[in-house]
Amino acid sequence: MSHRPQLIYTSNSPVMSLNVAQLYAENEADRYDMHTRHLNEQMVRVLRTIGYDVGFCRGAGQYLYDRDGNKFLDLLSGYGVFAIGRNHPALREALKSVIDAELPNLVQFDVSPLAGVLAKRLLEFVPYLDKVFFANSGTEATEAAIKFARCATGRPGIVYCEHAFHGLTNGSLSLNGDAIFRNGFEPLLPHCRVVPFNDLAALERALASRDIAAFIVEPIQGKGVNVPDDDYLPQAAALCRRHGTLFVADEIQTGLGRTGRFLAVEHWGVEPDMVLLAKALSGGHVPVSAVLTRKRIYDRVFDRIDRAVVHGSTYAKNDLAMAAGIATLEVMKHERIIARADRLGERLRLAFKRLFDRYEFVREVRGKGLMIGIEFGPPTSLKLKASWNLLEAANKGLFCQLVTIPLFKDHKVLTQVAGHASHTIKLLPPLIITDEDCDLIEHAFDEVIAATHRVPGAIWSLGKTLVGNAVQARG
Ligand SMILES: Cc1ncc(COP(=O)(O)O)c(C=O)c1O
Repeated sequence: MSHRPQLIYTSNSPVMSLNVAQLYAENEADRYDMHTRHLNEQMVRVLRTIGYDVGFCRGAGQYLYDRDGNKFLDLLSGYGVFAIGRNHPALREALKSVIDAELPNLVQFDVSPLAGVLAKRLLEFVPYLDKVFFANSGTEATEAAIKFARCATGRPGIVYCEHAFHGLTNGSLSLNGDAIFRNGFEPLLPHCRVVPFNDLAALERALASRDIAAFIVEPIQGKGVNVPDDDYLPQAAALCRRHGTLFVADEIQTGLGRTGRFLAVEHWGVEPDMVLLAKALSGGHVPVSAVLTRKRIYDRVFDRIDRAVVHGSTYAKNDLAMAAGIATLEVMKHERIIARADRLGERLRLAFKRLFDRYEFVREVRGKGLMIGIEFGPPTSLKLKASWNLLEAANKGLFCQLVTIPLFKDHKVLTQVAGHASHTIKLLPPLIITDEDCDLIEHAFDEVIAATHRVPGAIWSLGKTLVGNAVQARG
C-alpha cells in the first residue's frame, strides 16, 4: 500500500498552471523596454549600441535563435556555463525526474543522497582531495575558500593576481585584479595582496611574510586568456607548500573539461589544496558550485558538533542543483566531451595561427582546449596604424568591437572581448561544437579580419560610428 498522501483539489482551489512559453512569447517584444524601466538600463544601452538586441527566443545545443529565426553559433556559452550545450535532453529529463519524484528537498535536518553521489563522483576525478563543500555560484565558492583557508591556517592574508577574476561579492571582489570592478566599492577585505600573474619571484616575496593563508589563482586567467609559463603553477604550488600557504585553483571557468582536461591544472601536473568549480557543473540550468578540498582543511572548519553549520547556504545541495551536476558529468562522460574539447581546441588554434600569419593586426593566439584568446595589436603599415590610433584614442580596446560586431551581424557568430579595454577576443564555445562549426568559425574570422585590413571600408565606417558613440558616452 502506498503511503503517499492523496492531493485533493476542490473546484474552489484549481491547480494553477503557468504557461511560461506563452508568457515569454507575450512579453518578448517588450523585453528591452522592461529592462530599461525595471532593471539595468545600461545593459540595454550596450546591446542597442552594438546591435545585439536581436531578441533571442530559443537555445539548442551550441545554437541560439533570434525572433526572426536566425541561427547563431554561440562562442560565449553564457560565460562558460553551457559546456554540454543549451537544453541538453539528458539534463532536461534529469531535472524533470527530480520534480516528478516529489523528493524531500532541503530538509536541512537531514542529508541528501544526491549530494553524496555528486560529491563522490567529483572526487573520483580529483582523487588527491577528500571533501566537497557545495554552494550556489562561483563567487560563493571563492568566499568559502577564503574562509576555509583563514580558518585552517589561522592566517589572515590572501594573495591573488593582477587581472584575476574570482567573482563580484565582497570577498571575491577583494581578489579582483582590475580596477574597473573595484572602483566605487572600496575599501574591500583587508590583508589581500596582489602579485603579477606568472611572476614567481613576486609570489615568493608575498609569501615570505608567512601570514598568507592562501594563494588563489586561475590556472588560465579568464580576463585576457592568459596562459602561464609551464613552470609557473608547479613552482607556485611548491612555494606555497614551503611557506605554509594553501594553493587554491579557481577552476570555475577552466574546470570540467573546458581546457581539454577535467581540470586545467592537470596540464601541469599540479595538485591544489582546494579546487573551485561552478559554471559548467550546472548544465546551464541550475546554479551550483563546489569547493573540493583536503580533509584536514575541512575538518578545521567543521571541527565540533556545535559548528556543523558554521558555514553554508540555505539553497546549497538542493536536489535540482545536485541532479544538474550529476547529469552534466554523465553527459560529459557519455559524449567524451573532454577529449573533444582537446581535439577541436587544437584544431582551431592551429587554424587561427595559420590564417593570422597573414594579418598584421593579429598578435597572438593562445589558450588550451576550447578556451581560446586571439590578441590584436597595432599594425605596422602607416595607413592602418592611423586608423588603429584613432580608435585607441577614443576608447582603448575598441578595435575588438570591429571584429565581434561583424562576426555577430554578418556571420551570426556570438563572441566576447576578453575583458575591459582588452585587445583579446575570447572563444568559450559549448564543448559539443562540431568540425562543421569550426569550419564556420575559421571562415568567419578570416573574412572579418581580412576586412579590418581594408581602409577605407565598411568595417572602418563602423569604427567611426563607435568612436562617435565612445566620445558621446564620455560626454
Ligand atoms: C574564474 C572565475 N571565478 C569566479 C567566477 C564567479 O562566478 P559567478 O559569476 O558564478 O559568481 C567567474 C565568473 O565568471 C570566473 O570566471
